[in-house]
Amino acid sequence: MKTEIIKVDAGNPDIEVIRYAAEILNSGGLVAFPTETVYGLGADVFNETAVRKVFEVKNRPVDNPLIVHVSDYQQLADLSVNFPEVGKALTKEFWPGPLTLVIKCSQKIPKIVTGGLDTVAVRMPLNKVTLELIKCLRKPIVGPSANLSGRPSPTSAEHVFEDLSGKIELILDAGNTKIGLESTVIDITTQPPLVLRDGGLTREEIEMVIGDLTTTNSLEYKKRSPGTRYRHYAPKAKLIIIPRRDRSQFNIAFEQYKKENKKIGCITYSFDVEEEKSVIVRKTVNDLEVIGRELFRLLRELDWENVDIILVEAVQEVGLGKAIMDRLRKASNS
Ligand code: TXA
Ligand code: MG
Repeated sequence: MKTEIIKVDAGNPDIEVIRYAAEILNSGGLVAFPTETVYGLGADVFNETAVRKVFEVKNRPVDNPLIVHVSDYQQLADLSVNFPEVGKALTKEFWPGPLTLVIKCSQKIPKIVTGGLDTVAVRMPLNKVTLELIKCLRKPIVGPSANLSGRPSPTSAEHVFEDLSGKIELILDAGNTKIGLESTVIDITTQPPLVLRDGGLTREEIEMVIGDLTTTNSLEYKKRSPGTRYRHYAPKAKLIIIPRRDRSQFNIAFEQYKKENKKIGCITYSFDVEEEKSVIVRKTVNDLEVIGRELFRLLRELDWENVDIILVEAVQEVGLGKAIMDRLRKASNS
């Protein structure tokens, strides 16, 4: 299969392109779509064969359920049962946007979407191209990140092409994504709501609206958040986290890998590292939004340079820093 890439204007998408993409989805094909967080891999939520293909092309375990993307509240109502008050407050404040809600699901959703759970994860993405696409299809779409399972999520059409070319019909290219980290996932079937994945909307922002959230690392949590069981977001190189602003720790690791003749990639913001033949440097700035937006792209770029080791400077675990550190830990397998 040849994968087509079509550029779309994020602010003013061409309706002909949207119709074309909707037709592909309607006939059971797969279309990668832009969102404000990362690119997603879309299929018609009610087409089981198409949804099965999503798992196959991503090489994703079938017990790791998918997020359903909606463009209006009627679609949400059709997917849910007993939608709680807290959900209304959250959607009013944050949708469309980088917040995914896990809610009790209606019988209409095929089991393959939810991995057989009685809950479904839903979000309304903040991206005109994708909202128009769902509107035109008149059905919600499933949308896991459009990467191979275990790889960093794609923040550009080029990243999607790298992982899925030849396996899907179409990629809608609306440029780089704005947030660069996936949505925050919270389970609102319990009180207080449970954070299942930190992401592009900070806990602080959510707590301003609905009060305290909880997290737990218990087995129950792992059962409820199937995604947490698998290795994630990983570059091909081995990733090592260096404590923030700790130049001496950095030097120790750096010298050790140099002695072993490794090719080293560095992502830092508080200190400079000199580039050499076997040292590739990606200096960023001390700004969580910028680091969040660039992280997955930098990991892929360092893989393209064939580095053996990536040394990344940790960030402070507040605001978006929580999601960034979560991705780094998962990528480093620690
Ligand atoms: O920003 C995002 O959320 C992107 C864009 C494309 O929307 N999508 C995304 O999807 O990151 P994915 O499939 O890569 O991550 C979905 C996460 C997984 O960790 C999965 O386990 C969890 O949501 N999830 C899905 N359904 C769930 C459910 N019913 N209960 C608990 N966790 C669920
Ligand atoms: Mg993913």
